[in-house]
Amino acid sequence: MAIKTVGVLGCGLMGSGIAQVSAAAGYKTIVREVNDAALQAGLSRIKKFLADGVAKGKVTDEAQAKTLANLTGTTNPADLKECDIVIEAIVENLDEKRALYEAIEAVIRPDAILASNTSSLCITELAATTKRPDRFGGIHFFNPVPLMKLVEVIRSLTTSEQTAEVLKAFATSLGKEPISAPDRPGFIVNRLLVPYLLDAIREYERGLGTIEDIDNGMKLGCGHPMGPFTLLDFVGLDTTYYIANIMFDEFKEERFAPPPLLKRMVLAGYHGRKTKRGFYTY
Ligand code: 3HC
Repeated sequence: MAIKTVGVLGCGLMGSGIAQVSAAAGYKTIVREVNDAALQAGLSRIKKFLADGVAKGKVTDEAQAKTLANLTGTTNPADLKECDIVIEAIVENLDEKRALYEAIEAVIRPDAILASNTSSLCITELAATTKRPDRFGGIHFFNPVPLMKLVEVIRSLTTSEQTAEVLKAFATSLGKEPISAPDRPGFIVNRLLVPYLLDAIREYERGLGTIEDIDNGMKLGCGHPMGPFTLLDFVGLDTTYYIANIMFDEFKEERFAPPPLLKRMVLAGYHGRKTKRGFYTY
């Protein structure tokens, strides 16, 4: 299947990153948001990333111009009708995703592929809400999308082999490294990462060390780019809490249970960098 036009649903942190790498790879990319304010905020994020990249000497002027020329924003789902593949990156809410899939399926071709960037919802359940369960799969990017090389490709029970192959080839064409992950909460990376992050919180509560010392320990001792608390603030405490609850619900294993401190920080509105307060203050 030759992909020429890519649709991205949602221009938040993940959607804007996906739209950016898609446009940079040469695809005509149409990104859809619910309203103009959200759309402009997302497009501004892309423009800033590209301008910073030019300033750092990492992005050429031509690449910046080409990426922006390939990119269009819209608030109208009907504008995605030409898309060969549509990647959904909206809020982690089954009802909202279902409603948007219905609107998108009303306009796209029957052979177009629909994929979700969900980090936690069941791909088989999402596929079952569509009229194309064989042409639906998971394509999970990592934050920050333009810099992180990995993409997890997830087959639901119904995803065809061909759809999975198209998703992998598409990820490769974006300069990413795809891996196959099972349709289980957390897929591969969050399945291993989230218990590590939760463990760091639990051990901090038990007096293992200061936040700074634990972070420096893992950063300098293991070569991690960020220590666990910096990473928690970066990913978002609310997001981590949400994923942990979904994993705990499915597996009923203690290591996936969100620690009391995490729950309380989320309830207090300390969600990390995005709220300027998490384990650190920004
Ligand atoms: N355009 C182009 N390149 C850029 C750029 C830009 N605007 N900004 C930065 N870069 C390049 C830099 O030039 C540098 O390149 P180099 O390695 O060749 O020198 C590289 O990107 C790193 O940038 P910086 O040096 O500015 O920043 P850091 O070294 O502090 O790295 C980071 C930032 C890449 C975010 C790093 O800290 C990191 O990898 N952190 C971990 C992130 C992580 O784990 N993400 C996954 C979270 S889990 C997830 O997303 C799943 C979800 O489901 C929860």
